[in-house]
Amino acid sequence: MTKSLETHELRKTFGGVTALDGATVKFRHGRVNALIGPNGSGKTTFFNCVTGMIRPDSGTTTYQGQDITRKTPHAIVRAGIGRTFQLCRVFPRMTALDNVLAAVRPGGITRALLGARHPSEVDRARSWLTRLGIEHLAGVEARNMSWGQQKLLELAGVLNAGPETILLDEPAGGVNPALLDRIGSLVRELNAEGRTFVIVEHNMDLVMSISDHIVVFDRGRPIAEGTPAAIRSDERVLGAYLGV
Ligand SMILES: Nc1ncnc2c1ncn2[C@@H]1O[C@H](COP(=O)(O)OP(=O)(O)OP(=O)(O)O)[C@@H](O)[C@H]1O
Ligand SMILES: [Mg+2]
Repeated sequence: MTKSLETHELRKTFGGVTALDGATVKFRHGRVNALIGPNGSGKTTFFNCVTGMIRPDSGTTTYQGQDITRKTPHAIVRAGIGRTFQLCRVFPRMTALDNVLAAVRPGGITRALLGARHPSEVDRARSWLTRLGIEHLAGVEARNMSWGQQKLLELAGVLNAGPETILLDEPAGGVNPALLDRIGSLVRELNAEGRTFVIVEHNMDLVMSISDHIVVFDRGRPIAEGTPAAIRSDERVLGAYLGV
């Protein structure tokens, strides 16, 4: 079996809007995969279906050969898939360190608030803050951090839960160029350590520089896929997305 995250004919409509229109996609394990496409082409809905946050109307998702279509979000996290959100989700009135501690597992927030922390958990949470370059903000409440710092914090929490596959929804959105470089090199480093990524992103410089494989969505389904070089010169992509 090739390890992968695969969907088969995923469909999702909202009222009269078809967000996913029979999306069949395969993201191979071990790669930095990107999912690109115009606004409204169904990328976030795809992530929401894959992570169990919304139910597709039909179609299936399999992860490492196992059907995860109807599993709960918690079960999908336990299966090894973590994600960040387009509109970054952190606990604004909790410190950066508590945010990372709370993200570890269901119930983590209660444990973090009650102060029930094992020293090794705290060390591990701190080491993720260090890895992401925000250890100096450990005691700062998330609401007092910049947007880019909050995105790094959200990612630190996701990483602390130890997923083997990580879905990032617009990691570069609203982030300054210095942090953007850090996110790009971090993704490559974490990939070299064995983590698989699927990254939704509009910043084409970032996508082209960090991806092994790119899938292009248009109107709720893939219209092209391939290496960055192949995608850059694909006429369907130029027409649908790059507006050429
Ligand atoms: N909860 C919802 N209720 C109603 N319509 C929705 C909902 N979620 C998504 N849609 C619609 O489904 C379509 C796909 O949206 P989606 O957010 O998946 O696109 P996207 O590719 O992530 O876009 P963007 O690049 O702007 O983030 C859009 O027309 C959107 O308005
Ligand atoms: Mg989106």
